[in-house]
Amino acid sequence: MAQIISAVQRKGGVGKSTTLICLAAKFAKDGAKVLIIDTDMQQTCVKWEAKKECGVDVTPHTDDETLLELINFTTISYDVILIDTAGYQSAMAVYAMSASDLVLVPTPASEPDAEGAVKTIRHIKNVTANNVKQPVIRAIFTDVDKNTTITEAVLSQLNASGVEAVSTPIWHRTGFKEVHSTGGLPTGSALSALHQFLGAMQVDGLLTYYDNIFKEAS
Ligand SMILES: Nc1ncnc2c1ncn2[C@@H]1O[C@H](COP(=O)(O)OP(=O)(O)OP(=O)(O)O)[C@@H](O)[C@H]1O
Ligand SMILES: [Mg+2]
Repeated sequence: MAQIISAVQRKGGVGKSTTLICLAAKFAKDGAKVLIIDTDMQQTCVKWEAKKECGVDVTPHTDDETLLELINFTTISYDVILIDTAGYQSAMAVYAMSASDLVLVPTPASEPDAEGAVKTIRHIKNVTANNVKQPVIRAIFTDVDKNTTITEAVLSQLNASGVEAVSTPIWHRTGFKEVHSTGGLPTGSALSALHQFLGAMQVDGLLTYYDNIFKEAS
C-alpha cells in the first residue's frame, strides 16, 4: 500500500508542484516506486516528467469523481503516491486531502502566505474531521531566503495558531526553478537543500517508505 501525500494551499505559487516533483524524484532515486497524480489543469508535474525520464510515473487526472478509484486501483503498485492540487476548496482538493496520509501545506516565509497556510490547515481539519482516518498535516517552509529573519516571525505566527511545521525549510535555490526546464532532480545546492529538508521529514517520522527501509535493515 502506498503512502498518499498531497500538497494543498489556498494561495497559489507557494511551491506545491516544485516540492512534490523534487520529493518524487528523490524517492525514485532511493528505489521507491512513485506515482504523481497531477490534478492541476496547468499540468506542471506532467510537463516536468516529459522533460526527462527519472523513474517517476506521472498521470494527469482532472476528474474529481474518479480520483479515489484511481488511488484504490494504483496503491498496490506504488510505495508513494503524490497528489498535486490546484486551489483548496474544489471537490478535487477535498477528495485529495481525504485520501491522504500526509498533507503538506507549503508556505514561503511571508505573513500572507503563512496566513494562507493557517486557513488551509483549519479547512483540512474541518473537511477530514469525520473521516475514519485523519491525515497528518504539516506546514512546510518553501523558497526561504537564508538571509532573512522573517522565518522566525512566521514560525511564531504558525505556532500561535497551533500549526505544526517541518523544522527545516526548503531554502531558496535557483536549482529548484531549473527542474521545470530540465526535468529530474535538482542539482548542486538545491539538491543539498532538498536532502536537508528530507532529513527533517525522516526525523519527524513522516515518510513511510524510509521508515520501512530502516525497519527491514534493522
Ligand atoms: N525552494 C525554491 N527555490 C527557488 N524557487 C522556488 C522554490 N520553490 C518554488 N520555487 C519557484 O516558485 C515558483 C512557484 O512554485 P510552484 O509552481 O511549485 O508553486 P505552486 O504552488 O505549485 O503554484 P500553482 O498554485 O501555480 O500551482 C516556481 O517558479 C518555482 O520554481
Ligand atoms: Mg502547481
